[in-house]
Amino acid sequence: MLKSILSSPAAILFLLLVLTSSKCETINAQDKTTGEPHRPGYHFTPPAKWMNDPNGMVYFKGEYHLFYQYYPDSTVWGPMHWGHAVSSDLVHWQHLPVALYPDSLGYIFSGSAVIDEKNTSGFGTASEPAMVAMYTYHNIVAERAGKAETQSQGIAYSTDRGRTWKKYAGNPAIPNPGGQRDFRDPKVFWHKESRKWIVMLATGDHISIYSSPNLKQWTYESEFGKDMGAHGGVWECPDLIRMSAGKEKKEKWVAIVNINPGGPNGGSAGQYFTGNFDGHQFTPDSKESDWLDYGKDNYASVTWSNVPEKDGRTLALGWMSNWQYAEKVPTAKWRSAMTFPRELKLEQKGARFELQSLPVSEIQLLREKKVVQSNIQINGTSEISHSIGFSMVQSELELKFAPVKDANIESLGLELYNEKNEKIIVGYEFKTKRFFIDRRLCGENLFSKDFNGIHYSKEYAIEGEISLHLLIDKASIELFAQNGSVCMTDIYFPSTPLSQARIVSKNGKITCSSMTVYKIASMVDNVKK
Ligand code: FRU
Repeated sequence: MLKSILSSPAAILFLLLVLTSSKCETINAQDKTTGEPHRPGYHFTPPAKWMNDPNGMVYFKGEYHLFYQYYPDSTVWGPMHWGHAVSSDLVHWQHLPVALYPDSLGYIFSGSAVIDEKNTSGFGTASEPAMVAMYTYHNIVAERAGKAETQSQGIAYSTDRGRTWKKYAGNPAIPNPGGQRDFRDPKVFWHKESRKWIVMLATGDHISIYSSPNLKQWTYESEFGKDMGAHGGVWECPDLIRMSAGKEKKEKWVAIVNINPGGPNGGSAGQYFTGNFDGHQFTPDSKESDWLDYGKDNYASVTWSNVPEKDGRTLALGWMSNWQYAEKVPTAKWRSAMTFPRELKLEQKGARFELQSLPVSEIQLLREKKVVQSNIQINGTSEISHSIGFSMVQSELELKFAPVKDANIESLGLELYNEKNEKIIVGYEFKTKRFFIDRRLCGENLFSKDFNGIHYSKEYAIEGEISLHLLIDKASIELFAQNGSVCMTDIYFPSTPLSQARIVSKNGKITCSSMTVYKIASMVDNVKK
């Protein structure tokens, strides 16, 4: 039979057409420039090879700088460098050469960057201030020799907008005090009241605070954290941010402390404390922390420094992966992306202060097509992608559901799926009062025993409207629920793109009072000239 088909030229032509057209479909669905199925369109990824934490985020002269933990020789973690990219708008990124290379003091671990406006360091001038980076040296030779003191802090500076860097001759600027195995991830800021630089350092199960008049000589100030927050793992990548809340603009300080493992759904995650800081000591409002994000894939999240006062936003970015499986995810040329940049806001809720995160408003620059629908009745499943008319693969959705009175309803949400019925489900579960992302059926998930799963947020009781704001980018979903009060970020690896969507309700009828969907452009497709 096969033989007779193959002997007919028309049949061969037909077969060829079938084969090439299905191939075309797959390639079209992939990134045009790279042919890599899971490479996001509008989330930052390294040009190639391994990336982890965002580092040195600073705004200067019209550019947002993003440095990042980078190993340019492999797709798994190794000798750390600082990769570098810049953007004028937080959504279109331009890759620049590697900024910092390992040296005789060690690998270049995570850290931060500031603009030394007053030229306290003498690295620049008063009119042309230097960009100063502070990072951790991890001494691999000392580690291999079995020493505990492998980590110290170094500084480097640039007087040409971050393009080239010189390391400080007096490094390490903060030597290991002795016996401190974990001594890393400096986050520096200028404390105007005491007119000194403050650095937060992750030191095992607590944060150590040091101060300096000039970024070179440092004095130990205080510590906090041993008896507060989550301690399921080592504390890493801290931040301390001055924020204000409510109409009275009440000043509060927010300490971000990343932790690995010990996150709410396992592995890496970021917690935060609200409190006060007097230039010497951080005093939390409560010993309980909350999580910045309840998904499994937002780690090492910290904020940009030097954002102009007239902008005034607190801008954060995290690494969209988890140490449980980051080195095993099924991408070949590169590993891992950053979250979409987020604006953090502080809201007063009774006596408490709550951090809310939303995608930065610059997402507007990537919106290509818009569909608005209202009053969609759902009783089980309501297919929406047909009427939307474009693929959901790179999209943004804002869904608002009318208050649910029916006590029998178990859950509501959105399913993203493909023709093989691989899917991601995101929604709210009424019995447990939790938001969730279910990636159990999302495609490839056997590369790590820790990947497969359904992830839940904290309990969040809702009487009124339920709102889900979602960013979808090929292999990731970010949920900002209830105006950013609950966030969840998860990655996934479908065998073909999850291009379709349906709204689902379990065990009853619900109303989606309004739905706005945007098609989101790839950053390479709409780079401003
Ligand atoms: C967090 C982290 C940091 C460290 C860096 C090394 O992901 O472990 O504590 O500086 O990664 O790459």
